Amino acid sequence: MTTNAQLLFNQIPKGEPTAETFKYNTENTIDLEQKLDNGAHIVKIICVSLDPYMRGRMRPAEVKSYSPAFDLHKPLTGHGVGVVIRAAADSQYKVGDHVYGMVPYQQFVFFPGQQKVDAETKKFLGASAGGLMVIKNEEGLPWSAYIGAAGMPGKTAFMAWKEIADAKKGEVAFISAGSGPVGQMAIQLAKADGLKVISSAGSDEKVAYLKELGADVAFNYKTEDAKKIFAEHGPIDVNWVNVGGKSFEEELEFMNMHGRLIGGWISGYNGESYGVRNLFQFVAKRLMMRGFIAKYSDDFYATIPNKLAFGDLKFKECKYDGLESAPKAFLEMLAGKQSGGFGKVFIQVASDDTN
Ligand SMILES: NC(=O)c1ccc[n+]([C@@H]2O[C@H](COP(=O)([O-])OP(=O)(O)OC[C@H]3O[C@@H](n4cnc5c(N)ncnc54)[C@H](OP(=O)(O)O)[C@@H]3O)[C@@H](O)[C@H]2O)c1
Repeated sequence: MTTNAQLLFNQIPKGEPTAETFKYNTENTIDLEQKLDNGAHIVKIICVSLDPYMRGRMRPAEVKSYSPAFDLHKPLTGHGVGVVIRAAADSQYKVGDHVYGMVPYQQFVFFPGQQKVDAETKKFLGASAGGLMVIKNEEGLPWSAYIGAAGMPGKTAFMAWKEIADAKKGEVAFISAGSGPVGQMAIQLAKADGLKVISSAGSDEKVAYLKELGADVAFNYKTEDAKKIFAEHGPIDVNWVNVGGKSFEEELEFMNMHGRLIGGWISGYNGESYGVRNLFQFVAKRLMMRGFIAKYSDDFYATIPNKLAFGDLKFKECKYDGLESAPKAFLEMLAGKQSGGFGKVFIQVASDDTN
């Protein structure tokens, strides 16, 4: 038997998660030599993602939302990349295949050939529910890129920019939380379409990176007056609302007529959300805000990984080593206080050249 360490969901947090929300369990084991049949395979996990939306999954199972709640005392689940290390003769995967999909956060995962997927997960993941996608990575990107810029957050930016932004050259886009994985991609997509980009982040170092990504105006929302910036450089035609809450209320004042808003709401994920008081701006300015959940897209994989590999699109990542570092990494990611730099936060579970 081989140790198969796991990151367990240990306790439902009230407000901000704490170290007790998680438990790093080293007592779990797996038989890597077990007989495999009926399409089964074993995957060694290389890296897993930590994303703000996971805070929403830390809730009682009876509270329904768009994503399934984490099961108490079971491993967290989320996007990861691994390598198939064993496969039954009739498995759809072969040893050495690198795969991407929803995985439990542990070192090794046994997948029965026919995975049972509950209705909630199916609704959340759509066509990709239960299936692992083989990644060829002909671009030679680090595997972590496939859970970041070339993964779910990248797809979020790509899909919403194409489907909702309705962006026109010369317009003004505002992108909050610009140094996160969604923000980084959104800034670059907006610049590629000829928009003027205003973006904000929570430290001067992050702000310098927003400028490197092409933002025309970048500011530290903790030390600068957002309203003054919008008054000088707005009005905003496309508002990429990563943060929401009180700052959303301020942004609404500076929206242009017929502006579009694309939504995330990270300021409210840890508890009660700020009650925005000027929603009448939607009527007065004929604004449109549309929710969406990122989905698989062939178009995305056909274009974005290549651009990332050739440096046509930049991306920055923030790596934490080992599942044991995940509680610290998750809390730091939510608070914007990543000790390992900034950008897409992920956990390196095994080294990239694992096979
Ligand atoms: N609809 C979808 O399918 C979908 C998919 C993925 C993501 N999203 C949403 O998109 C947004 C960005 O996601 P992401 O993965 O790129 O995350 P992210 O930017 O890495 O989010 C974390 C960062 O947000 C900032 N932040 C946290 N609380 C804040 C607050 N109260 N005020 C201002 N900034 C705050 C912090 O950075 P600073 O240091 O800059 O403060 C923090 O590091 C989130 O709202 C997320 O839920 C939606």
